[in-house]
Amino acid sequence: MEKIIALAKRRGFLFPGSELYGGLANTWDFGHYGVLLKNNLRDSWWQRFVLSREDMVGLDSSIFLSPKVWQASGHVQGFNDALVDCKHCHLRTRADHLIETMIKGIKVEGLPVEKMTEIIHKHRLSCPNFGSSELTDVRKFNLLFETHIGIVEEDKSTAYLRGELAQGIFINFKNVLTTNRMRIPFGIASQGKAFRNEITLGQSVFRTLEFDLMEFEYFIDPENWQKFFNYWQEQMWQYARDLGLNEKKLRFREHEPHERSFYSKKTIDLEYRFDFGWKELWGLAYRTDYDLRNHMEKSGKDLHYTDQKTGKKYIPHVIEPSFGLSRMSLAILSDSYQEQTVNGKSRVYLSFKPILAPVKAAIFPLQRDERLHQLAKKIFSKIKTEIYCEFDDSGNIGQMYRRQDEIGTPFCVTIDYESLENESVTVRERNSMKQERIKSHKLVDYLVKRIRN
Ligand code: GAP
Repeated sequence: MEKIIALAKRRGFLFPGSELYGGLANTWDFGHYGVLLKNNLRDSWWQRFVLSREDMVGLDSSIFLSPKVWQASGHVQGFNDALVDCKHCHLRTRADHLIETMIKGIKVEGLPVEKMTEIIHKHRLSCPNFGSSELTDVRKFNLLFETHIGIVEEDKSTAYLRGELAQGIFINFKNVLTTNRMRIPFGIASQGKAFRNEITLGQSVFRTLEFDLMEFEYFIDPENWQKFFNYWQEQMWQYARDLGLNEKKLRFREHEPHERSFYSKKTIDLEYRFDFGWKELWGLAYRTDYDLRNHMEKSGKDLHYTDQKTGKKYIPHVIEPSFGLSRMSLAILSDSYQEQTVNGKSRVYLSFKPILAPVKAAIFPLQRDERLHQLAKKIFSKIKTEIYCEFDDSGNIGQMYRRQDEIGTPFCVTIDYESLENESVTVRERNSMKQERIKSHKLVDYLVKRIRN
């Protein structure tokens, strides 16, 4: 992971947040290549789960919702982490993380705080920083970020940054139903920033205070919940595989009842084996009618659905596939990181699928020669209107290949002296390093085809 983060920083994928001022824990900025990668992942998700389906529509709700929404949804009371403090150095840690790191094989997330306190004291667990086992009792700490609308800091102005996108979807259920004329089963999809007051130090963008999230609520007749749960579980697996993630590093894990979020009747995580262990990548939850029912009761508005064919009237249930986009970017970076020795020299490359690669092709003149430079620029201008590519003439060919390998560019196009004679170029493929000679006028079609494959 250290090597991957070092590369991500060196090549402009990720930068630690506020580094100029000594940093701000659990914040990261995405550099140029990080943004491109994240946008490609987001677009692949949008294309697959919204644009290519007839039963899904999009929504972009506000980050600020009425505080009544978070009270009705149960987040103000129940969206908590269990924390413990060291009495000496005052380090605050997540109690479940402390216990699970120190006692192998145990799963305690969601256990009552009294039970966690008992385990910590019984096993004399100690502060990871100071080493003392003088720890406070475990206490609950709400994850919602609180702020104030306007300039007066009083209870009436309290607002929360959204902790999930789902609530924006639930409160717009009726709007979507009427304007888009949707019929159950159907889904509402949303992507954007979510915010959580996390105190555990994350592994780069794995766990941050603000992160990119993509999720949808799939509204169903409760009779069919198991069928649709299985269907979305299968779809999530297939999507992870289609992104190119290594099957051996993927598994499903069902939550124990005590681990489940307060709104869920069944939760399964799709886990990825990061270098720091098996961790949740995405989640799938059966939220029942918990949210719509609560919003109906608290708002006093009718959120029933009537089946026009059968006349059956009910509050829809939901299956919720939730995809952390920032976390997904880290999984893709980790999974793609490759080291190789070629002719006694080490080579590092990122083996992204071409469709996800930040830069699709790089164009170089073989040497610093004005004629090669001019032709390379001409070819670059033509290609860049079709696909995202870079021009480089900053070093020798080996250095230029190395840089593109490290940002995962699948194709490097070199303009050499033969190009001046017969209007052809060489295309080098990143993983195999095989080179092919292509006629310049066929280059765009060739690249477009290979990127889509
Ligand atoms: N609406 C359901 C929901 O928010 P969740 O399991 O709490 O479910 C969904 O979060 C996904 O968001 C997770 O599977 C993970 O990928 C990502 N995620 C959660 N907390 C995160 C954080 N602090 N930093 C980065 N990603 C996070």
